[in-house]
Amino acid sequence: MKFFLDTANLEQIKEAQQLGVLDGVTTNPSLMAKEGIKGEEACNKHYIDICNIVDGDVSAEVIATDYEGMIKEGEALAKLHEQIVVKVPVTLDGIKAIKYLTSKGIRTNCTLIFSAGQALLAAKAGATYVSPFIGRLDDISADGLLLIEEIREVFDNYTYDTEILAASVRHTMHIVECAKIGADVATCPLSAIKGLLKHPLTDSGLAQFLADHKKLNG
Ligand code: E4P
Repeated sequence: MKFFLDTANLEQIKEAQQLGVLDGVTTNPSLMAKEGIKGEEACNKHYIDICNIVDGDVSAEVIATDYEGMIKEGEALAKLHEQIVVKVPVTLDGIKAIKYLTSKGIRTNCTLIFSAGQALLAAKAGATYVSPFIGRLDDISADGLLLIEEIREVFDNYTYDTEILAASVRHTMHIVECAKIGADVATCPLSAIKGLLKHPLTDSGLAQFLADHKKLNG
């Protein structure tokens, strides 16, 4: 499973890149706003900065909601850097835009997926990735991981190239469960990726090894 970082924070992206396990980055307008990135020029520069840190795909989301606006923005975003994947919401115009952008060789990430039917339509339109939101489903007492299972089952029945990019990942067990289900990618906060390392038996075992070594070696 590929690991993407779900942030627009350059320091966190650098830290994950240095860890050596980073395969890409996803952003969205809320994550860009959280970093205080304002205006088209600043956003574009920030996307390029991210591409220059990470070796892998970087999702940049369109703001337009109409077909013409989405394809115009999508084409401009794709021109910024070869690593850019254009993120498009799963609406009627979004699906049409994904079909168009795909026909132009531009890679897309269909976002705000909350049902297997939405994922199926996005795959048929040629999306490179579909982004089902696990955490936001859990937040309303639905089962986010069940959605990942359903999409995996649907995609495995056919030969779509579309990858399942599990999004809205909130904690380590989301990551582990996504890997068990066979999601192609999980986009995660850095804390959840680092959380995978934590185990009290690792800590106590290492302390014991070092203490035993010190007894003999000083
Ligand atoms: C990523 O592509 C999504 O926009 C993101 O994972 C949403 O996460 P959230 O539900 O924690 O905002």
